[in-house]
Amino acid sequence: MSIWFLLNGMLLIWAIWNVAFGISSHASYIHILLGFAGFLLFIFNWTRNAVFSTIRNAENRQNRIRLARMSKRIRPYHRWVGTSALIIILLHGWAVIELYGFNLTNMKILTGFLASINLFVLVLSGWYRLLIDPRIRVRKLHIRLGITMFILVAIHFIF
Ligand code: HEM
Ligand code: HEM
Repeated sequence: MSIWFLLNGMLLIWAIWNVAFGISSHASYIHILLGFAGFLLFIFNWTRNAVFSTIRNAENRQNRIRLARMSKRIRPYHRWVGTSALIIILLHGWAVIELYGFNLTNMKILTGFLASINLFVLVLSGWYRLLIDPRIRVRKLHIRLGITMFILVAIHFIF
């Protein structure tokens, strides 16, 4: 089992906690639900990393085969889940800015803005990897952008 399963699970619980608190304390909360939907799509795709590292390290052959089959079945959806995450997060950002204005001294807005730029480059690197250049350098870039995305989202949840 990869440590990333645990980390992703913890980030998911944190997101649910923040969303529940946000919804119960705001009169309008469509923007929060959009943020949550985009987050769910991101964490679904990022769990591919946890599955791949488990496959690489698993002792048990049966488990490896089971995980590899599962990841193959999900593979065709990966690109669309990632692209939808970006679109929904842009709607989240738009709804937030309609509500509060584009105020980068607000840490929640600043960190969200940085995370969404990261998500944009992550999605771009995915399409580049799929359509133009699947070499190891682009693969590493795609994974590193996933890690920075994870960190930026965690920082977005702090504020
Ligand atoms: C342009 C980019 C973004 C902006 C301006 C932004 C801004 C905000 C703001 C101001 C809130 C608080 C809403 C409130 O309390 O009324 C919020 C909540 C939230 N955002 Fe973002 N955000 C952005 C990007 C992202 C990204 C990239 C993610 C994750 C993939 C995300 C996920 C969430 C979630 C799940 C919430 C609800 C939970 C919480 O309040 O912590 N947002 N966002
Ligand atoms: C939320 C956005 C995304 C995240 C978090 C994400 C994450 C990942 C992860 C963790 C892997 C497996 C890493 C490895 O190679 O060991 C992967 C593979 C891959 N991703 Fe993404 N990705 C995202 C969006 C996209 C998009 C939009 C595309 C567009 C085509 C894409 C294309 C690929 C390709 C071609 C692979 C390698 C083949 C495969 O194993 O499916 N990704 N991605």
